[in-house]
Amino acid sequence: MTNPSENLAADAGEIPFRAIVEQSLVGIYVIQDEVIQYANGVFAGLTGHTPEEIVGMHIRELTPPWSGEDNLQRIRQRVSGEIPSMRFRTQGWHKDGYPVDVEVHGSRVIFRGRPAIAGVAISIAENVQFEHDLLHSREQLRALAARINDDREKQRQLIARELHDVLGGILTSIKLDAARVRRRLERDENREIADGIVDLAREAIDSVRQISETLHPSLLDHLGLVPAVTRQLETFAVRHGIACTINATESPLPISKAQGIAAYRIVQEALTNIARHAEATRVQVAIRLDGPTLHIAVTDNGTGISQAQLERPSIGIVGMRERARDAGGHLEISPGLDGGTLLRLTLPPIMETAAERPADD
Ligand SMILES: Nc1ncnc2c1ncn2[C@@H]1O[C@H](COP(=O)(O)OP(=O)(O)OP(=O)(O)O)[C@@H](O)[C@H]1O
Ligand SMILES: [Mg+2]
Repeated sequence: MTNPSENLAADAGEIPFRAIVEQSLVGIYVIQDEVIQYANGVFAGLTGHTPEEIVGMHIRELTPPWSGEDNLQRIRQRVSGEIPSMRFRTQGWHKDGYPVDVEVHGSRVIFRGRPAIAGVAISIAENVQFEHDLLHSREQLRALAARINDDREKQRQLIARELHDVLGGILTSIKLDAARVRRRLERDENREIADGIVDLAREAIDSVRQISETLHPSLLDHLGLVPAVTRQLETFAVRHGIACTINATESPLPISKAQGIAAYRIVQEALTNIARHAEATRVQVAIRLDGPTLHIAVTDNGTGISQAQLERPSIGIVGMRERARDAGGHLEISPGLDGGTLLRLTLPPIMETAAERPADD
């Protein structure tokens, strides 16, 4: 049934708010005295009610037990004018007994001569589920990255040891045997062949040592992070013809073995990136302690890294961040003071587990 006065109002050029509100795809409500005074079908439907059912219900009946007080508090703040308008996420309570996630925007109005709240509400169940899934898959990715780093480190260590101990041992025996054979030979063609075998075995031993050192630096285990990074930098300077300096504390570093490996690998990837992308001529590494917190900075004077590249990093930077996080610290990459790139790693001391001992003891 149409009310003649409504037709008249519409005819007089007034906007037909009632029709708009009732057809709205978002929930619309009016609350006064903590009781629903008006609700459109969508608002009532959020909690499984009809508009007729929901009008007259107290807010406490429409919110889960754990958020009832918060919601009443928000209503009081708006009614009193303390915070006249609020937009927030909360939960409603479905009549079948489960929470529903909603986003609400409601403001203080005057209704029948007294303060009330008029507002809109939408269901955000899908967003909440999506955010939850996203968070969950991020956590899984992090755990996976940490696990990959860990496994890779263990494998490297294992291969380094096997190479060094087993292959290195065999090659040393070959070299010694060849040297013994050589001593028994006259100076002739056979002696020259034996000389060649001894030289080859020596070269092979050196190369096994180098490969093993690259896979897992024994300096890190035996002397600690600073000597290992210093050696790494020397090799890098020679290989790439880039001037490198290191400025490092002489104090023992209060970090665990795992943190030492993380810091070493982060510096290694930073140097690899400099060699591959930066076109730098100078690299500076600083290792200092601020109380017990370790700070490592790697600066280059190259082309610099753009914000877009930082926002779409590849495995290298993602892996560095994960290692830093896993070691209890964090990593920042920013433009250097005079061009180039500055990478800063902060590692606060972490409690050691029984299986670990300091890298620098
Ligand atoms: N020191 C640097 N100077 C200039 N650009 C850099 C520097 N370090 C990184 N970048 C830029 O940031 C990008 C991402 O680095 P990241 O290490 O994540 O990937 P990548 O080196 O390209 O590949 P990988 O995953 O094999 O390490 C690089 O492709 C490069 O463009
Ligand atoms: Mg890289």
